[in-house]
Amino acid sequence: MHRPRSVEAADVAGKRALVRVDFNVPLEDGAVADDTRVRAALPTIRLLLDRGAAEVVLMSHLGRPKGLDSAFSLEPVGRLGRQLVPDERVRLLENTRFEPGETANDPAYARQLAANGDLFVNDAFGSAHRAHASTEGVSHLLPAYAGLLLLRELEELGSLLEGPEPPFAAVLGGAKVADKIGVLAALAERADTLLIGGKMAEEVERDAGYELPGDVVAAAAFEPDAESRVAPWDEVPAGWLRLDIGPATRKRYAVRIAEARTVFWNGPMGVFEWPRFAEGTKAVAEAVAAADAHTVVGGGDSVRAVEELGLADRIDWISTGGGASLELLEGKELPGVVAIPAA
Ligand code: 3PG
Ligand code: MG
Repeated sequence: MHRPRSVEAADVAGKRALVRVDFNVPLEDGAVADDTRVRAALPTIRLLLDRGAAEVVLMSHLGRPKGLDSAFSLEPVGRLGRQLVPDERVRLLENTRFEPGETANDPAYARQLAANGDLFVNDAFGSAHRAHASTEGVSHLLPAYAGLLLLRELEELGSLLEGPEPPFAAVLGGAKVADKIGVLAALAERADTLLIGGKMAEEVERDAGYELPGDVVAAAAFEPDAESRVAPWDEVPAGWLRLDIGPATRKRYAVRIAEARTVFWNGPMGVFEWPRFAEGTKAVAEAVAAADAHTVVGGGDSVRAVEELGLADRIDWISTGGGASLELLEGKELPGVVAIPAA
């Protein structure tokens, strides 16, 4: 695994630091609904300010907008940021994905971004698996360093990759299934137990080497108060949707998690934003928190679930990366990391 050089080795006094953070946070009613990723970026921002940076210019993507779209503005994050770090030297650029050059990793857009800094600090672990202009592109245009969060994430997830204590249980769920399907095979090899829930359970082969839900909470419609009932996986009424894992599956998954000495969890088991379909995710969160194991939880939704249930301080490491943590566990080098010179 590539170990990039640390921001602590950078000479920042009097310089403008351009910092890629991952502020891709859930928004609700125009406010930040989960501030984990914002708080996780603070140590690097404070380090740069303490060391006398002339300016700290933050940049991030938010969501997957198609061009400029105010629903994806970073302004709510900016408001929160100004409360947390009231320092005039800090400013936040607008959503990098408003520019098509971002995801295309267009050198011209990377140059435009790089013009904001004398050095570049990548602290966006959550986006490090994307070879985009603001992650990979700018790394080649300015002296580049890894931020404190990025380094800590590499250390924590690296320890799962390089010799986790067995049994190693991995729990996967959630949406963004297309992103995750590729890591399944790799995880199935590395983990002793692989438990699948959420949307993902519908997309994988039923006879593969994973444990899948035996029962589900089925709903007549995709609505918070839809008519619902517990049903065996194969006996969901025609046209109904599987919106959570069922009670028997919850129990079985909790037992598997309790047996493990290392646990990695990414992705909710159902539509946990709606209380009637949150029980599966809650059961997994509680089992992970109670496990006598080294526990790592990653991915925006699972992290949010753990925070909302007040279980965060019983998890050993809460990763700010979803897809990034999965790709790292797959054994891949992350483009945003490799682009930073080695320590
Ligand atoms: C994430 O939340 O997984 C990262 O911020 C990356 O977002 P993306 O999957 O839209 O690239
Ligand atoms: Mg523990």
